[in-house]
Amino acid sequence: MEHDHPGFFGRLAAQQAPELLWIGCSDSRVPANQIVDLLPGEVFVHRNIANVVDHADRNCLAVMQYAVGELRVKHIMVVGHYRCGGVRAALEPYRGGLVDDWLAPIRALHQRHRAFFDTCPGGSARWDKLCELNVLEQARSVSQATVVREAWARGENLAVHGWIYSVADGLLRDLEVTVAKPEEANTVFEGRLAQLL
Ligand code: CO
Repeated sequence: MEHDHPGFFGRLAAQQAPELLWIGCSDSRVPANQIVDLLPGEVFVHRNIANVVDHADRNCLAVMQYAVGELRVKHIMVVGHYRCGGVRAALEPYRGGLVDDWLAPIRALHQRHRAFFDTCPGGSARWDKLCELNVLEQARSVSQATVVREAWARGENLAVHGWIYSVADGLLRDLEVTVAKPEEANTVFEGRLAQLL
């Protein structure tokens, strides 16, 4: 890196000024920078199992607060992925333990759309669909977070996006739920949900 871009690390050590916050899954096949082809310094990252954005999770909230309030990121991308093991586990019988507890919001999401999932072909179709709905749900959760609402109220330029990555072909797809104003959030998420179900 230093050979191709002399002074790269010197500049990076002085400050970080990323415009993007990536909220993604911890899955080893979904590395943030590599997927969007961005250099160190360009994307602030939060990852957890199944990219859950829970308003009781101090870790995720602190990351969002710092990213929005201090780093002034312009975009927050919630990035799920197909074949997500966390989403898969939420489709299976409850076994207990920390991971299962963590996945409770996804289990609840599945329950909420039970009527749809009961008519959905089994196997990977159901799994993939829940991965997509989970992105919508967590992006909606970001759009409802106090720190995001306050940034919008201050008139800041901040957009929330929902993307999904396929570990099978390396392609990243936009789920088209970009929201940049509080008043459009419900329409965007409900409209897209109706298309996906
Ligand atoms: Co995953």
